[in-house]
Amino acid sequence: MKNIYLCGFMGCGKSTVGNELASITGMEFIDMDELIVQRAGMTVPEIFERFGEAEFRRLESEAAKLLSLKSGMVVATGGGAVINGANAELFRRSGMIVLIDVPPEVILHRLEGDTTRPLLNAPERKKTFLELYAKRMPVYRAAADFTVCNRNDVPAREVAQELIKMLKNDTQFSTLLGNSDEFIK
Ligand code: S3P
Repeated sequence: MKNIYLCGFMGCGKSTVGNELASITGMEFIDMDELIVQRAGMTVPEIFERFGEAEFRRLESEAAKLLSLKSGMVVATGGGAVINGANAELFRRSGMIVLIDVPPEVILHRLEGDTTRPLLNAPERKKTFLELYAKRMPVYRAAADFTVCNRNDVPAREVAQELIKMLKNDTQFSTLLGNSDEFIK
């Protein structure tokens, strides 16, 4: 039984869609950042502030290793997790990678006033965001086996259902998600 790794930019809805996906399928949901925070005993901004991004990335890679040893999990990865090729490879070998694709203007609006993402706490926030978005999207796309859109006008549960339909056509997952028919409109 493989894992489903949800990837995508900060604020794209990995946790929201992931929770729906887990509740529909009965799989276990785990948020990678929460695992990192639990193990470190500090919040993400605290880790960045006290030890720097490199240390956060090291902890993130450790979490990726731990998660890749598990099975049957829906994992909301952190926005930078699959940017590291070694993490992406671990995810690929232990499951499937799904990109939650959201247009930049929608994410910008969603993250307005958010202070929990250290990478965006820059003086020129919008410019920083757009540069990072442009740099990362091709990497997410290259890593992903499947892509779903998560715009504001579609409820997360429907996005999860759409994703299940896609996954069900994949032989690797047809057994895993076999009993989810009743939830699909
Ligand atoms: C990061 C995304 C964050 C968190 C950290 C770094 C990134 O997770 O892991 O702030 O590099 O994109 P979310 O994508 O859940 O916001």
